[in-house]
Amino acid sequence: MSTIEVTPAEPVRFPEETLKKVQEIIGRYPEGRQKSAILPILHLAQNEWNWLSAPVMDYVASLLDIQPIEVYEVATFYTMFNLEPVGKYVLEVCRTGPCCLRGAEQVIEYIENKFGIEVGQTSPDGRITLKTVECLAACGGAPCLQVRLKREGGIHKYYENLTPEKIDELVDREWV
Ligand code: FES
Repeated sequence: MSTIEVTPAEPVRFPEETLKKVQEIIGRYPEGRQKSAILPILHLAQNEWNWLSAPVMDYVASLLDIQPIEVYEVATFYTMFNLEPVGKYVLEVCRTGPCCLRGAEQVIEYIENKFGIEVGQTSPDGRITLKTVECLAACGGAPCLQVRLKREGGIHKYYENLTPEKIDELVDREWV
C-alpha cells in the first residue's frame, strides 16, 4: 500500500496557535478531569498530522498528563481516527442499512475497482483511502459518503445519492 504521509519528525509538537487551542479545551474541564478533552485534542492531532502515529498519541498523552495507553484505547475505538498513513482524500462510505438498501455496497465495489484497492487501503498514487463507516445521519441522501478535508481544517464534506457516474464526476472534478 502506498502512503503519502510519513511519521512526523521528532519532536512531535503542535504549532503555538494549536497549543493555545489545546489549553483552552483542557480549561473547559474541572481540575484533574483533563482526560475529558481527549477527543477534541485527538481531532486536532489528526488535522495536524493526518493520522495518529504512536509518537503523536504519546504526545497527546503528555499534554493531558495521562498514560499513553489511555490515548491508544480511545484512538483505536473510533473509526474516525486514522491509525496508519492515509491518502489525500479519505472516503468514508456509509454501510448501514438504509444506505445498503440504496446501493452502498455497489458504490464501495465501484470505488474498489476504480482504484484497485480494498476497504482500508490507499490507492497507489496516494490520492484515495477507502473506509466504511456506520450511519452518517444523512439517510435521506442514501447512499452517501463523507470526506475529511485537511486543507479546510478537517471539516467533513458530505456527498449524497451516490452512483458510479457521480463517483466518476467527483474523481475528475473534486478529488484531484
Ligand atoms: S444509513 Fe447511511 S447515512 Fe444513515
